[in-house]
Amino acid sequence: MELFFHFMEPGFQREEGLAVMNASEILTWKERALDELRAADSLQAVEAARIKYLGSKGMIRDIMAGLKEAPPEERPAYGKNANAFRVEVLALVNERKESFQAQASTGKAETFDYTLPGRWRGIGSLHPITAITEKIVAIFRTMGFTVASGPDIETTFNNFDALNTPAGHPSRDPQDTFYLDNGDVLRTHTSPVQVRYMQAHRPPVRIIAPGRCYRRDTPDATHSANFHQVEGLYVDRNVSLADLKGDLSYFAAKLMGPDIKIRFRPHFFPFTEPSVEVDFSCHVCGGKGCRVCKQSGWIEILGAGMVDPEVFKAVGYDPNEVTGYAFGMGIERIAMVLYGIQDIRHIYENDERFLAQFA
Ligand code: PHE
Repeated sequence: MELFFHFMEPGFQREEGLAVMNASEILTWKERALDELRAADSLQAVEAARIKYLGSKGMIRDIMAGLKEAPPEERPAYGKNANAFRVEVLALVNERKESFQAQASTGKAETFDYTLPGRWRGIGSLHPITAITEKIVAIFRTMGFTVASGPDIETTFNNFDALNTPAGHPSRDPQDTFYLDNGDVLRTHTSPVQVRYMQAHRPPVRIIAPGRCYRRDTPDATHSANFHQVEGLYVDRNVSLADLKGDLSYFAAKLMGPDIKIRFRPHFFPFTEPSVEVDFSCHVCGGKGCRVCKQSGWIEILGAGMVDPEVFKAVGYDPNEVTGYAFGMGIERIAMVLYGIQDIRHIYENDERFLAQFA
C-alpha cells in the first residue's frame, strides 16, 4: 500500500495522520486543477472539477488540514500557496461557468433545438453553357460524330497559318488576339482542333469539338473576352454542301424544335470555300418577325463552309481525294437566343437567381 496519498480521484479520502504535500506540490496541483478546468467541455464538467478541488470533502480541505502539520519554517509559503490554490481555482471555476451559461442563453454550443427544420442547401444544376454544350454534342453523336479537343493555348500555325489565314489578316492583330511572350496565342476559335485532328488521323473524319475561346473584346452586353464554341468537321470522299445543309437542318430541328428552318447566306472565312453564315428561323415568332429576330424572321447562329483545299494541304490531306465541311457556333449566342438572355455577362456572373432558372 502506498503511504503517501494522491489526489487522483474525485472524493478521494485522505487517511488521517498520513504525510501531506509540501508547499511547492500545492502549486503543481493548482496547475493541474486549472488545466482540468480549461479542458472542461460542459457546465457539468466544471462543477465536477469544482467539487473535486474546492468541495467540502475536496482537495482544498486536505490542503488546509495540512497547514498545521507543515514544518514551522515552511508554513508561510504553505499558507500562501494554499490560498493561491483556493483563489485561482475558484476564479476559473466562476469564469468557466459564466461562459457556459452565456453560451446557453445565446443558444450556441450547449443547447440545440432538435425540432428546428434542417438547413436547405439547395440542389445544384448544370450551368446553361454546360447544358447547351452537352445537348449539342448529344445531337451530333447520334449523327456519328465523336468528340475531339485541343488546348486553349495554340500555336499561331494551328490557329491561323494552317487555316489559310494570311499574315496581316485583321484577326491576327494583337488588338484582337491574346499573344503570349513566346508567340503562341490563346485560341481565338475552336477551328485549330480541325488542324490537330486531321494531322493525327487519316480520313474519313467526323468530329465535334467544344471548348473555350479568347478574343480581345471589350466586355459589353454581347461581347466577352472568353467565350465558348463548338466546332464541327466532316471529311470524306464526296462530302458536299448539300450534306452540310442536310445535317444542319436536322441539327436545328433537334436543338430548337421540329418547325425550325435554316438558310445559308454567303460569307467569307479564310479556311472554307465557299463560306456561309447559317440562320435559324426565329423560334419565338416562327418566322413572322418580332423583336427577338429584329422583324427579319431569322436569327444568325453559326459560320460554316466547305473546307478550303489549302487547309487540306496544310494538314497533309490530298484535296483531290477528299472534301469536307466545317462549322463553328458560339455557345453563348445560342444560349442567349434560346433563353432570351439579354446580357452575356449574366452567363459569367453566376448569380444564383440567374442560374436557378435553368435548374
Ligand atoms: N471559326 C469561325 C469563327 O470563329 C467559325 C467557323 C468554323 C466558320 C468553321 C467556318 C467553318 O467565327
